[in-house]
Amino acid sequence: MSMNCIFGFSLFLLLLVALNIYFFYILSTEHKPATFKLPIVKSDPIPPVIREINDFLNRLPSQYHNKNSKFLPVQKSLISSFNSSGTNSKSVWQTVENWADEESLFPYKDGAAGEILQAMRSSQIALADNAPKGTQLKLLLLLQGKQKLYFKPKRYNISDVIRGNIYAGYDRHNSEVFTYYLAMVLNYKWVAPSVIRRIHFNQDILAHATAGLKRTMVKNDKGLVCIYGKCYYCKVNETVCPDNKGEIQGAAILYLDKQFKVNKSPWRRSYNSMKMEWENDFDFCKKVSMLLSTKRILNLIDISIIDFLIQNGDRHRYEVYKNKIILLDNGKGLGNPMLDEIDILAPLYQCCMISSSTWQNLELVSGGSLTETIKLLASFQGEKLTTDDHYRAVERRLLKVYATVKYCVAKHGSAKVFKNIDGI
Ligand SMILES: *[C@@H]1O[C@H](CO)[C@@H](O)[C@H](O)[C@H]1NC(C)=O
Ligand SMILES: *[C@@H]1O[C@H](CO)[C@@H](O)[C@H](O)[C@H]1NC(C)=O
Repeated sequence: MSMNCIFGFSLFLLLLVALNIYFFYILSTEHKPATFKLPIVKSDPIPPVIREINDFLNRLPSQYHNKNSKFLPVQKSLISSFNSSGTNSKSVWQTVENWADEESLFPYKDGAAGEILQAMRSSQIALADNAPKGTQLKLLLLLQGKQKLYFKPKRYNISDVIRGNIYAGYDRHNSEVFTYYLAMVLNYKWVAPSVIRRIHFNQDILAHATAGLKRTMVKNDKGLVCIYGKCYYCKVNETVCPDNKGEIQGAAILYLDKQFKVNKSPWRRSYNSMKMEWENDFDFCKKVSMLLSTKRILNLIDISIIDFLIQNGDRHRYEVYKNKIILLDNGKGLGNPMLDEIDILAPLYQCCMISSSTWQNLELVSGGSLTETIKLLASFQGEKLTTDDHYRAVERRLLKVYATVKYCVAKHGSAKVFKNIDGI
């Protein structure tokens, strides 16, 4: 080869790499942050799949940008599930306790969802304790009537943007609640009811605190009693304190009094700079399919879609009850509305399959219906769950989910992609 030729070829390669980086960047972020730097650190090749998904995103049929009229009856029944209140909480807890169903983790029909949330928000607290399992500060509340709740206190204002890696920061209490509504709108019923609750620190917590909980309280420099709790990451200097009304806000999450199995996710992250197998091996799904049933993989794909929509990159393990994955621990969503970390969708684009019912449910909520319905259902409890930026981000990511499925269909054909096994 002549020098000219080599030079030309190098230039061509350079251009190719630059294009790769450019497309990857477009796909993983919508807006450029103020400090735009070429991500030179990402020296590994950008998988062509990312570029291809982006092509499908740009050519997405208009149906995915518009509302689907078939969603109206679904929305109506969701409204009647959530727009309710008034029955006494004793009968609500009885319904919850006696609940056994193959279709959903908790009752939701005939107004049950709204009644449960209402009772979770307003029932008197009889006992407050630490909930030491897990990495994040949370309390275990025993309500009058014996129902238990987890309480994840607010750590951030809803407009705070969490920067850093995908699992950075404390849990977001609103992400827990948002994910509950999101899953219910997508017809994924294996999720615990969650609602925003405000608790008076002195009257509701301190007055009913166990000795163990009291031992994890300290006075701050303003003389306020605050909690640092008991958990893997809990530190004395990282407290939750009452606001100027003497209250603590947080997510109240219905306690699951059930035995479930815990499994490691095949698509978990390393939490350090080491790359996991799924990040290097594009045929990773083949290996997974030797270990897990198709049904379980489809279920993991369902979960990855929900995680992608909220941008939870922290699902390193998952809990299974009645052979279905329960959406537990959803506090790492809603961190940065400007970022779409596409590799959360790796289970979908690496396996290129999706349960037909999941796909139908996704197609129903196009054109803004998904977030409109979440807003509407949350409004029955009088709560704003997140900012408009986050609502827009969820809609933007939904389009990327559609594009990913279209990419798979183009590559493998719909017969291989859509599986008639119950999913979302
Ligand atoms: C939230 O915002 C309020 C006022 O806008 C501020 O006083 C407070 O410190 C913020 N809280 C957090 C956790 O950032
Ligand atoms: C609390 O202290 C630890 C060291 O014990 C430190 O790493 C951490 O950054 C501190 N947190 C805050 C919010 O200052």
